[in-house]
Amino acid sequence: MTPEGFEQMFATNYLGPFLLTRLLLPYLEAARPSRIINVTAPSTTRPNLDDLQGERKFSSLGAFGASKAADLLFTYALARRLGGRGITANAYHPGIMKTNLNRTAPTPVRLVAGVVNLFAGATPERASEGLVQFATSVQFADTNGQLMHGGKAITAPFIGDKDLQDSLWKASCSLARVQETI
Ligand SMILES: NC(=O)c1ccc[n+]([C@@H]2O[C@H](COP(=O)([O-])OP(=O)(O)OC[C@H]3O[C@@H](n4cnc5c(N)ncnc54)[C@H](OP(=O)(O)O)[C@@H]3O)[C@@H](O)[C@H]2O)c1
Repeated sequence: MTPEGFEQMFATNYLGPFLLTRLLLPYLEAARPSRIINVTAPSTTRPNLDDLQGERKFSSLGAFGASKAADLLFTYALARRLGGRGITANAYHPGIMKTNLNRTAPTPVRLVAGVVNLFAGATPERASEGLVQFATSVQFADTNGQLMHGGKAITAPFIGDKDLQDSLWKASCSLARVQETI
């Protein structure tokens, strides 16, 4: 748990970025055109809205997957709300990277991740090239509400579910104590 009482992975991967983005909106609006890019992954773990912080059932992999899916759902909800206001919101999947992301994961996860990284992982420098391109190129100035990988839009299960996006939005506003309307 964080000192504020949130499940740590939910807070670090999702609720913190959610709140930060909300607090930055006035500045992004003043600096239009602006781009919001959430770095995440095409997670297949559907967040459980009745147990967002794993109080009833917890597994570290499940919490990780749900937090990354929440980033996607939030990005899509944000893109719908910001449409036409000079701020775009997209998610970016960097691909498998050789980083220390799993350094505190359970040993089996670390071992598997180590092998995958060895054979399929890109260096962070290489993986960030596509992200920098997406953040700066005029080619992507109007791209909104997409999950991008390299220069292409990709998809993930259930992230287009607007009811799920809006329910998560509502729950997140309540947890982060911000207004629902932006
Ligand atoms: N690596 C991959 O294959 C991969 C694939 C798809 C998506 N991604 C995404 O890419 C992003 C960056 O990950 P990465 O692979 O580059 O890993 P990374 O180098 O380990 O970066 C993770 C960052 O999160 C910070 N962090 C971790 N726990 C924290 C906590 N409890 N409170 C505050 N900060 C915390 C770390 O800070 P410290 O260094 O100070 O601990 C670090 O700056 C993540 O969103 C990840 O999900 C990675």
